[in-house]
Amino acid sequence: MEKTMGPAGVSAPGIRILGTGSAAPAQIVSNDDLTRIVDTNDEWIRSRTGICERRIATVETTRSLARAAARAALASSAIDPARISLLLCATVTPDQASPSLACFLQRDLGLREQMLAFDLNAACSGFIYALICAQRLLDPEGIALVVGSETLSRRTDFTDRNTCVLFGDGAGAAVLEPAPVPFFWSATACGDDDALSIREHIRMDGQAVFRFATKALAARIREVTEKAGRAVAEIDLFVCHQANRRIITHAARQLAVPLERFFMNLATYGNTSAASVPLALDEAVTGGRLKRGQRVVLVGFGGGLTSGAVYLEY
Ligand code: UT7
Repeated sequence: MEKTMGPAGVSAPGIRILGTGSAAPAQIVSNDDLTRIVDTNDEWIRSRTGICERRIATVETTRSLARAAARAALASSAIDPARISLLLCATVTPDQASPSLACFLQRDLGLREQMLAFDLNAACSGFIYALICAQRLLDPEGIALVVGSETLSRRTDFTDRNTCVLFGDGAGAAVLEPAPVPFFWSATACGDDDALSIREHIRMDGQAVFRFATKALAARIREVTEKAGRAVAEIDLFVCHQANRRIITHAARQLAVPLERFFMNLATYGNTSAASVPLALDEAVTGGRLKRGQRVVLVGFGGGLTSGAVYLEY
């Protein structure tokens, strides 16, 4: 069952975001570029998804993107990396099964060995699941580094126009400390192999996932704001998984919230799975859309099927 952290408004300890960072491959692939390899067109992709271009890894790896995003998050948090005691990496595209991406990052960043470091697979909800785990696992004196990193292009079938136009590569990260601030969460998981799966390649029943996504997005937002004792209208910014502009528009309409409160950067990155929420969060922070003290709801949904949301005060 989903849990509320204590009575509404007094969840202690919550978590405070000290810093964020992101990274993306250098190569930009436009919709027009894709028309040269698959039967598609810019008009279809833009109008059905809102995506204009995506980044595709050439020399970059899930590890190198994660490392760059983590370094940026550590720099913006201005904390001593030696204080990191929990390292969680959300990914469905690790470069290898073991050692984990988290263990490689521990080494790459020169972090201490006395820590818990592991990967987490909740597909596009991965970063949200990782935030919830960080809040539950952090010691009172601890600091967490939470990363979402993906090279989905390595699992994309570039002959399948139903999927290859949607996905991109990237990474995002956040540094967190326990703090007496409100934190609420809501999450779901339901085994479903038909709607969305990754074996050799990503396979998706787009319409089935679309129906799930629109319902999950609005439901998770309603649940966490209710747990926080807030009205949906009191949330300053929603940072949702960047899968499709139409999914976000649909949720905004259902919730009667102006679309401007939903941060979107999917036009330039496409769907980057577990990287999408932290990448968007970092751009919301660096672009001045999310300011200290504001109420933010982060939401993910996707393969599993999974969904999750957290309410935070930035
Ligand atoms: O990160 C996990 C979460 N994932 C999602 O949230 C994805 C959710 N699903 C979606 O965003 C949408 O369902 C899609 C963007 C994947 C597809 O949009 P749609 O409006 O549901 O299109 P559709 O699958 O119903 O296809 C409509 C038409 C079909 O042609 P016919 O059968 O009507 O002649 C497709 O063959 O569009 C065609 N089509 C394309 N045409 C040009 C499908 N892909 C393409 C394409 N270019 N890339």
